[in-house]
Amino acid sequence: MSEDNANNSRRRFLTGAVGVVGGVGAAYVAVPFLAYWNPSARTRAAGAPVEVDTSTLQPGQKVNLTWRGQPVWVIRRSEAALDALAANSDRLSDPSSAVASQQPAYAQNEHRSINPEFFVVVPICTHLGCIPSFMPQAGSLDTNWPGGFFCPCHGSRFDNAGRVYAGVPAPTNLQVPPHRVVDNGTIVVGEDPEAA
Ligand code: FES
Repeated sequence: MSEDNANNSRRRFLTGAVGVVGGVGAAYVAVPFLAYWNPSARTRAAGAPVEVDTSTLQPGQKVNLTWRGQPVWVIRRSEAALDALAANSDRLSDPSSAVASQQPAYAQNEHRSINPEFFVVVPICTHLGCIPSFMPQAGSLDTNWPGGFFCPCHGSRFDNAGRVYAGVPAPTNLQVPPHRVVDNGTIVVGEDPEAA
């Protein structure tokens, strides 16, 4: 394969990897071309914060990134997705985020985030560690589906705040990592608000 072809293939792969992200400055997009802006691999592995530009993120879209070797999604929720959070509380195992290990104290609320519109989550199913499907639209899984995350491995369901439904294999809500929101729309994953 020529060098040009190899570069084109690599570009196509990277574009596909962030398909739902659109034009957002996602960490996965930026790393290969702008690596010199980021900390070294060793520093990232140690947990260096990752900045995400949310300025062009549309409702229902997400940005994929990696923090401390695990996937993190930054999601912009639509108004409909936020409205559905209250409606489903009585079907959830932990609607008020009582399990303290699953989110920082500042995300221990109905929307499980600092800014209700932006949800930051580690998309690892709390049953056996599969990556759930992101299905934010009501009705996209079945007619009663209000939108959220569906784990195809054993059928666990989570709402649009990563709160687990009662009666599914997953025992706890999806984990929310430390994060803070900067005035210009940047979200910093891996840093608490008081660290700013
Ligand atoms: S790993 Fe998700 S339901 Fe089992």
